[in-house]
Amino acid sequence: MRRNDWSQTTAVITGASSGIGTAIAKKFARQGIKVLLVARNTERLNLLASEIRANGGKAEVYPSDLSLSQNRSELAQHILADTGAPDILVNNAGIGWFGYFSRMPWEVAAQLIALDIEAPTHLTSLFLPHMLESGKPCRIINMGSITGKMPEQGIALYAGAKSYLDAFTKSVYREIIRTPVRISIIRPGPVKTHFFDNSETYANGGRIPAEKSAIAPERIADVAWSLVKRPRRFVYVPFFMYFSPFIEYLFAPVIDRVGPVLLKRRLPTSRP
Ligand SMILES: NC(=O)c1ccc[n+]([C@@H]2O[C@H](COP(=O)([O-])OP(=O)(O)OC[C@H]3O[C@@H](n4cnc5c(N)ncnc54)[C@H](OP(=O)(O)O)[C@@H]3O)[C@@H](O)[C@H]2O)c1
Repeated sequence: MRRNDWSQTTAVITGASSGIGTAIAKKFARQGIKVLLVARNTERLNLLASEIRANGGKAEVYPSDLSLSQNRSELAQHILADTGAPDILVNNAGIGWFGYFSRMPWEVAAQLIALDIEAPTHLTSLFLPHMLESGKPCRIINMGSITGKMPEQGIALYAGAKSYLDAFTKSVYREIIRTPVRISIIRPGPVKTHFFDNSETYANGGRIPAEKSAIAPERIADVAWSLVKRPRRFVYVPFFMYFSPFIEYLFAPVIDRVGPVLLKRRLPTSRP
């Protein structure tokens, strides 16, 4: 895709009402891409769309609770009817949860599975055939996590969900490698967003340690944009995260022993 092509392109961005999704929407809109903003909070989406339009960009709002299968189907129908196959799909919406898995209420677990696993899988299934049919150099960018490659105590289901998304992305990447469509996964370390506040709702006052070293969401938006221009199967952000799988590989027995102690310190009022 050449730089001057962007004014004719559209990007569906899920989880656009906050954090990383908002940063990606602003970044893409600045490049001339028409951004289709998806999340539940209509007010925040409208505010973002107004800001983008005020800055000369193009944005449309598609409020949707993506944890529900029917909503996802309806969303795809609307977008396909309005603009046809999108050039870019960013599967970014996601939630976390911090604490012992044995203490995780099933309703919360089911919501996490619906949003972090089902939604990106379903939206890929809904849009990918149209992208392939269009013959255009389309992109799917999935928002993974470093925890998908380096699971940790305290975020068992979240790490499992991101691990799934990583494997799914890799498999589809290999299926479509001979087509103009590319799928990628971003594996961020901690990012400064509302994600931690939301994930800690059930953490009995415990704090997620990684929050302290969090980077700005704009760094992830820059990486997403680089993937649009030059697709790769995965990218770690920040760069030193490329070493993390080796740490897991080399020091897993140590982590097995130290991890539970650290978690207990973080969750003083809880137990497995
Ligand atoms: N922050 C980090 O440290 C970090 C690190 C690695 C990966 N990630 C990943 O980055 C992605 C974005 O997270 P963030 O850090 O930007 O967190 P965030 O600020 O909490 O944003 C989460 C987004 O997901 C949307 N969302 C939540 N439930 C939804 C639902 N049922 N239907 C539709 N949209 C829903 C939220 O919008 P509404 O509430 O308006 O629906 C919001 O726009 C997630 O996939 C997360 O796993 C985050």
